[in-house]
Amino acid sequence: MKYEDFLGLLKNRRTIRHFKPDPLPKGAIEKILEAGRWAMSGGNGQPWEFLVVTDRVTKAKVGAIINGRQERHWALEQTREQRYRHPGHFRPGLVPDQVRMVNEAPALIILLGDPRTFQATVIGNQFFSGEHDIFHMNLGNSAMIMNLAAASLGLGAAWQTIDRPSEHQLKELLGIPLEYKIYVQIPVGYPVKTPPPQYRRTLKEVAHYGKYDKSKYRTHDEIREWLAQCRLGSLPSYDVRKPAQSTIELTKAAKKKK
Ligand SMILES: Cc1cc2nc3c(=O)[nH]c(=O)nc-3n(C[C@H](O)[C@H](O)[C@H](O)COP(=O)(O)O)c2cc1C
Repeated sequence: MKYEDFLGLLKNRRTIRHFKPDPLPKGAIEKILEAGRWAMSGGNGQPWEFLVVTDRVTKAKVGAIINGRQERHWALEQTREQRYRHPGHFRPGLVPDQVRMVNEAPALIILLGDPRTFQATVIGNQFFSGEHDIFHMNLGNSAMIMNLAAASLGLGAAWQTIDRPSEHQLKELLGIPLEYKIYVQIPVGYPVKTPPPQYRRTLKEVAHYGKYDKSKYRTHDEIREWLAQCRLGSLPSYDVRKPAQSTIELTKAAKKKK
């Protein structure tokens, strides 16, 4: 494989949050899982296992759990200044992407981690890198590779974070052993559309040679501006119906209703 082809795959892979109802080609999921199991891992511990959900009824139950996640996150997002607020959380109950993508995607890959494998790596990591760092990095590698594998097959995929309360609910729903961790959920399907490559900071901005180049250090103000820009930049990726609605407006509207 040529470097240009590899880079092309990296650039053209996008997070997809809206899927066509078309079924997946035979064997596509297995190809994605096959790629995921070739990830690097500390001490070759390979903590990953993959749970595939395709049944509509089960997916709807997963969607309901994700809806709970959205409601929880919405509440916390309201404590942030509007310009830093995540676009998926402008209004309660109006977070169609995250629940819709679960229902629409013909398959969900739920990436599980078995923490007992952690001891494959050097024991120093347990003390000096934080108990779970290597474990999570291992799983992150597998998740990223599966997203790329989906893109290489002309399919769309996304990285859907599972928070703690959702994790407990999902484990119960899907009969996952208590000690396992759900690292991430990856809905897979044909994209309704694939947006152009997403913005990334330039190589000039992020690369240092020899020693850290202090001229590239960003001030706290610049970081705050960057965070606000990240929010603006991600707006088009989300199904946001009324992006400008502030908490104050929402409170006013709620009072009026009463
Ligand atoms: C650790 C991590 C967590 C993420 N969580 C979510 C999520 O819960 N829901 C979602 O729709 N996208 C999620 N994303 C996708 C990012 O928003 C997306 O990768 C980013 O905006 C860049 O866009 P791109 O993937 O299209 O290049 C996550 C990505 C990562 C790496």
